[in-house]
Amino acid sequence: MKRNILITGGAGFIGSHVVRLFVEKYPDYRIVCLDKLTYAGNLENLRDVEQRPNYVFERADICDFEAMKAIFRKYAVDGVIHLAAESHVDRSIRDPFTFAHTNVLGTLSLLEAARTEWESRPERYEGKRFHHVSTDEVYGALEADGGCFTETTPYAPHSPYSASKASSDHFVRAFHDTYGLPTVVTNCSNNYGPYQFPEKLIPLFINNIRQRRPLPVYGTGCNVRDWLYVEDHALALDAVFHRGGTAETYNIGGFNEWRNIDLVRLLVRTVDRLLGNPEGCSEELITFVADRAGHDLRYAIDSSKLERELGWRPSLQFEEGIEKTVRWYLDNQEWMDNVTSGEYREYYRQMYGK
Ligand code: NAD
Ligand code: TYD
Repeated sequence: MKRNILITGGAGFIGSHVVRLFVEKYPDYRIVCLDKLTYAGNLENLRDVEQRPNYVFERADICDFEAMKAIFRKYAVDGVIHLAAESHVDRSIRDPFTFAHTNVLGTLSLLEAARTEWESRPERYEGKRFHHVSTDEVYGALEADGGCFTETTPYAPHSPYSASKASSDHFVRAFHDTYGLPTVVTNCSNNYGPYQFPEKLIPLFINNIRQRRPLPVYGTGCNVRDWLYVEDHALALDAVFHRGGTAETYNIGGFNEWRNIDLVRLLVRTVDRLLGNPEGCSEELITFVADRAGHDLRYAIDSSKLERELGWRPSLQFEEGIEKTVRWYLDNQEWMDNVTSGEYREYYRQMYGK
């Protein structure tokens, strides 16, 4: 194999798209998909690539330093794309310790495994890369008319989730500055698409519309997010992993800002149309509820550096991406039922141990 790439969090939403892209695009790379299979990780997301000869799966916890070192050695890992994390803001508000543990200490454990293993090899850091996948939420919140986040926007996280991701970003940069670890960091806006766990806005609301359950819009619904189709994120990660500069940061975004309430109305229209419901029939499900604590008003990413230096741009128009996404969730009801009931989790627990 030409390269041995470790993709952490590969059974999660974005990770599974990255694994699929790399397995299919680079048959001469060995892709080691590493995941703890928490509630958010699901090997069902990778069914179509699991038989490929260049794919292997390791169930492990990134916080387990000895296990991480053993995996680096076993597969002679020379590149890491690190996505494993706790990723949902509402959960971080309820349980901040888990976020600090996984996102901060887990990232540190992986960095230290990379450092010690790579430093012990004769070629040391030559040909190596540690790509850390992060979020635009580390930059805090923008005013409604307050420009976009750039790579030099100061960090100002507000939620335990974004604080834990910010901390992990700092550790990654510190490992470059202190030890010379060849790192690169990407900060991306909100992703959407197939295989997203239905606790996040878009899959949750598609499922609720189908089941005629309330659609809980936080606060006034005027918060703004910048949405990117997940496969476009995976392509951006491919570009940065291979061609991005060492110790650089690249913002990744969709140039696609939507107020939550407008997005919810688009979802309602799309799901109703695809289900053959009378127009507007699910509008009545929209329910304004108490706002999320510390709810960031607006995120918007300036990804012109990535476009200028590496030639990446989002490929999909939002309406097209939403239509594709809604169709996927409606066509894959079994996936939705099984992830919400925990059925897959139980199945893989029996296969791989608790
Ligand atoms: P996700 O929650 O769907 O998946 C996370 C994966 O990490 C799961 O498969 C889970 O089992 C695994 N995991 C969790 N703890 C682990 C541990 N201790 N050891 C090994 N594996 C573990 O998340 P996602 O939405 O796919 O996000 C992936 C990454 O991208 C995260 O780092 C997140 O911060 C970042 N990100 C997400 C978005 C977004 O919109 N979803 C946007 C920008 C950046
Ligand atoms: P989410 O998908 O949780 O992503 P993030 O918090 O990382 O941006 O939420 C997207 C937006 O939708 C955010 O402004 C919070 C809002 N939201 C609701 O209004 N209701 C919901 O039930 C959820 C899950 C989110």
